[in-house]
Amino acid sequence: MDEWSPHSWKFRPAAQQPAYDDEAEVARVVEQIAKLPPLVTSWEVDALKAQLAEAARGERFVLQGGDCAESFDCCDSATIANKLKILLQISLVLTHGSEKSVVRIGRFAGQYAKPRSGDFETVDGVTLPSYRGDLVNRSEFTATARASDPWLMLRGYERAGLTLNFIRALVSRGFVDPHRLEYWDLDWVTNSPMVEEYRRIARSIGDSLRFMENLLGTHPGELNWLDFFTSHEGLHLRYEQAQTRHVPRHTGWYNLSTHFPWIGVRTADPQDAHIEYFRGIANPIGLKVGTGTTPEALAQLIGILDPAGEPGRLTLIHRFGREHIGRCLPPLIAAARATGKTLLWCCDPMHGNTRTTSGGVKTRYFEDILGELDQAFDIHAAEGSRLGGIHIELTGEAVTECVGGARGLSEADLKHAYRSQLDPRLNYEQALELALFTARKMSAWRGSR
Ligand code: PEP
Ligand code: CO
Repeated sequence: MDEWSPHSWKFRPAAQQPAYDDEAEVARVVEQIAKLPPLVTSWEVDALKAQLAEAARGERFVLQGGDCAESFDCCDSATIANKLKILLQISLVLTHGSEKSVVRIGRFAGQYAKPRSGDFETVDGVTLPSYRGDLVNRSEFTATARASDPWLMLRGYERAGLTLNFIRALVSRGFVDPHRLEYWDLDWVTNSPMVEEYRRIARSIGDSLRFMENLLGTHPGELNWLDFFTSHEGLHLRYEQAQTRHVPRHTGWYNLSTHFPWIGVRTADPQDAHIEYFRGIANPIGLKVGTGTTPEALAQLIGILDPAGEPGRLTLIHRFGREHIGRCLPPLIAAARATGKTLLWCCDPMHGNTRTTSGGVKTRYFEDILGELDQAFDIHAAEGSRLGGIHIELTGEAVTECVGGARGLSEADLKHAYRSQLDPRLNYEQALELALFTARKMSAWRGSR
């Protein structure tokens, strides 16, 4: 294979890249971002890789979640704190259900670029470039908003920095003190049908913690007991390249704009520039696999992206849809196993289950999401593999974007609080319900062995 560099991807066809009017301006922006300090450090990146290696061995469980796309307008304290709270609550429930430590990875602090099915969108006879995420253009349907603006990459880098700064501050102080689990509650959910089950779990964790403290004479609440990692789809290659650098006393190149970049299904062709870029970075990486992924392509991708078979390096995130997982997953498990490498499997039960209502609203049915996840656990077990984590789109806000769940949201309810510009997200309550379901599933598995 040819020699790799942070820009060797430019010699390959790159899917889903924005077209810019002025390449010299793009180069100036990339140069500026390249000079700015990194958003994450190489030792954090290495720590995550070590945790993912443990997850691949079945010693941890991975929770990856957040918005489909972050928006610059929602870079505010309530949105960020609420997202963190719901992720923390879910991780608590999963820790309890799996009896494993949970690796927490947010889809945040940089999830600003989106793949689109078409380059253009036509509304009432007017055709404009598609909205590709706030890193590229703006969502309003005007020619000015839809023009690609390279300076948005810098704005995105800054917003990612602001988000991460706030998350680090919240995580490092009392907000996540395990003795104060009630701080994580979100107001609107106090009368939720699931709240009792959640509270029972939280109480039991609190009791165990106090027991351990008394036994050991230490106070885990005073330690930095919680890691939080960031991730985003590594889609916009000029942006990804900008923060790709050598680090003193480490070998290799790190993408320091995030801990865990992933490759989306639309850019996962083995010949695509994204695969070239990703093969050369030292970060742990995710690869989405879907109904279009053949066993041959998967084997080839594993060979390119994880040639050394380094545990923790490659996470395969499958997203088939409830109807297709039974047919599509077993051959891919077999192809991955045949490589002899230690790979981690996670299930994204969201992206294969997107549909449009008769009224033209993009939604997902909660029962499809649970249905795919339920099968994912069973299929991995039947094939002698292991589901090591979940990847979900959620928000801490009381949105109505997905149909179903304990409150029985209907298609007619979607109009009440549909805020996503792109994919429909689980709201707080649906996300917690999914976590409780997953936890029950994992304890049932443990009980049956
Ligand atoms: C996503 O995760 O938002 C996404 C676009 O996923 P996929 O590449 O699996 O469609
Ligand atoms: Co999405």
